[in-house]
Order: sequence, then structure tokens, then C-alpha cells
Amino acid sequence: LIEAVGAREILDSRGNPTVEVEVLLDDGIVQRAAVPSGASTGAFEAYELRDGDKSRYGGKGVLKAVEAVIDELGPAIEGVDAAEQRVIDGILIDVDGTENKKRVGANAILGVSLAVAKAAADSADLPLFRYLGGPNAHLLPVPLFNVINGGEHADNGIDFQEYFLAPIGADTYSESLRWGVETYHVLKSELKAAGFNTGLGDEGGFAPDLPSNREGLEFLLKAIEKAGFTPGKDIAVGLDVAATEFFSDGVYRVEGGEWSAEQLIEYFEGLVRDFPIVTIEDALAEDDWDNWKSLTDAIGSKVQLVGDDLFVTNPKRLADGIARGVGNSLLVKVNQIGTLTETFDAVSLAHRAGYTAMLSHRSGETEDTTIADLVVATNSGQIKTGAPARSERVAKYNQLLRIEEELGDAAVFAGRSAFPRFQG
Ligand code: PGA
Ligand code: ZN
Repeated sequence: LIEAVGAREILDSRGNPTVEVEVLLDDGIVQRAAVPSGASTGAFEAYELRDGDKSRYGGKGVLKAVEAVIDELGPAIEGVDAAEQRVIDGILIDVDGTENKKRVGANAILGVSLAVAKAAADSADLPLFRYLGGPNAHLLPVPLFNVINGGEHADNGIDFQEYFLAPIGADTYSESLRWGVETYHVLKSELKAAGFNTGLGDEGGFAPDLPSNREGLEFLLKAIEKAGFTPGKDIAVGLDVAATEFFSDGVYRVEGGEWSAEQLIEYFEGLVRDFPIVTIEDALAEDDWDNWKSLTDAIGSKVQLVGDDLFVTNPKRLADGIARGVGNSLLVKVNQIGTLTETFDAVSLAHRAGYTAMLSHRSGETEDTTIADLVVATNSGQIKTGAPARSERVAKYNQLLRIEEELGDAAVFAGRSAFPRFQG
């Protein structure tokens, strides 16, 4: 039973305040969880409550959310069985009482939801992935390493936010990790040799001032080959375009020009033809549903089209997308929706509809590794949690090594099968 719930303000990887929650059970178990935070957030995400008090952290303090945990959310679940995750998340949602968790903040709610799950797992003496996923949780994900950062995550001129290496041809998760790391280091030398800056962006990828978006993909291919791998067969590539960030007044502002959605779709068709691309996320803006449909009709049979800002891990928006035949994959960010239960609902809805699901970090992260357990618990087979650099990113990749070890012979690496549409 839940005996007490505490909370505090800690820092995330960008040096901004965030919420950490601690849950104490009556058997003496204590577990904590920390909440991540995005920069290129979708308009339809659950609400992140910040104090707005300019005298502290430029208004970004989270003391109100901390207070809500201590004064309202905690007392509402005290005495409840921590294993009743769905009941508890329902109580948290009711205490808030708003559609998008605006009153007490999704950051307050999520911290409690995650800490409860961790405490219940510990109390049951199970690893989190096993507790959440049950006896069938066994699939180790393909890690999608974001090795070039642009958009809102870096101060360079690249429009697209993320460039991924996806080591789909490895036999095991640990091998895929090594391949990604080796290629990441070669990429650094290649960028350096070509005279580009190798400083890092928010997610640990390099942030060079490349002259075009295509150039980023060319660098990835060069690095994959120089590291001794075959592009497409061993290591494929991918993009998070984060197109909402450069869309306004009906036009997409790309490489100094004003592009229509039709032009952008044609451009992506060309990229998919020319590069071994397994996944493209947010290729169009979060509200551009009709063009998303055209995009899906044009290339959705050949490449994974992921909705991040489009679906915001929200089962309702996802159901809408499925009904319209928009996209074919869900990006899963726990803080976009605010409870573990709703996150599970979104993932199972995706899987039932034949959509893939990719677990994801945020650009503002902490040392919390819950998403590594979640990707295995849901057998989703794909995770993006940044470059293999910076401890808040590497923490998740390292946790997956521990899970792989724990699973032993039962572990299966998702590999190529995680991307059923990929033909490259
Ligand atoms: P964010 O970026 O965490 O800044 O929203 C990640 C993404 O867009 O996938
Ligand atoms: Zn995204």
C-alpha cells in the first residue's frame, strides 16, 4: 500500500527545473521517478505546469507542481495498493479534473504515475520491464541514435531536427549499440576533416552548420561505410523533420525558401529513393492532416511515418489518425500524455492497428531510465534516446544492456523486423 508521496524540484539536462517524485510503500520500499521536458513540443501535448515566477529560474520553476504532488495527488492515493496502476492513474486524472492536465500539471501527475510503478515493481521483487510487461516481455529494441542535431535542438542552420543511425542488421542489442557508437565516432572525424564544428546539440548529436538537409544524410552514409558497415543492410538511417517548427501561414520554410506541402512530399519521395531511410518522423506539421494523408499514400508503404507532434501519445488523436489512414507509426513520450496507463493504451491501440510504436526520450532529460524498461515491456522494438553520448542519453542505452543481460537467452533483438515497411 502507498504510505506517502513526496516531491522535489531537480534539474534536467538543459539546466531547467523539473519534478522528481518519491513514493514510500508500507513495506518500506522507496522508489523515485523524474520527469523529462521537450523543446519542440506539440500544441496538443498534456500541460507542463511551470511557476511563471520570473524571480526564479526565469519563470521555469516547478514548485507549484511539486506542491500539487505533496498536497493533492499524494494524499489522494495514500492507502491504495501500488499494484493498481490503472486505478491510481484514474485517481490522478480525476484529481486534476481537466482535459489536458492543466490544473495540477502533467509533470506532477507523470512523476507520481512512474514512481508508483517503480515502487510496485520493487515491492514485487521484479525488474520494471518484467513487472510492466509480464512474462512475454523479451524484445530488445533497435536504438535510433540521433547523431546530427538541428532545428530547435541546436544553433546551426539545419532545418531538420534529428538524423538517426539505425543499426538494424546487428544480431543483438549490445552489438547494435557498438555499431552505433563506432559510427558516431567516425562521423565526428568526418565532420572535422570537412571543416565543420563538432560541438554537440541538446541530444548529444553533432551540430554542424551543414549547407543543406541532404548533406546530413550524405555524412551519415559516409560514416557508416568508413566504420566498415553497409548502409541499409547493417545500418539504416532516419529523420525527425519536426516540421511543425518551420511551418507557418500554410508554408514550410526550408533551406531559405517557402515550400508547399506538395513540394516537401516530393522532396521526401526523392530522399527515400536515394537513401536507405527506415523512418521519417513529423515530416509535416501537427495540424496538416490532409497533406499527412497524401504523404502516407505516397510513401507510407515504403517507410515508417511517425507521428510525434501529430499524435502526442494521445489515444484519441491516434484513433483519429488511424481512421483517416494517416501515418503508420506512433512516437511514444510518457510526458506528452502524463500517465503510464494512457501511454500503454496508446501503444496497444497502435499495435492493434498495425502501426509500429517507437519509445522516446525528450530533449530535456534526466538520469531516469524508465523508458528503457517501457520499450521492452511493450515489445515495441524501437527506441530513440539520443546520441550515444551525454549521460542522460547513455543512461537509457546502458539500462537496456542490463535488461539484455537479465533476459539472457530469452532476449530477442528486434533488428530489421522492427521496420516491416522498409525495403532498402
Ligand atoms: P522535444 O524533441 O523533446 O524537444 O520535443 C524530441 C522530438 O521532437 O522527437
Ligand atoms: Zn519529434
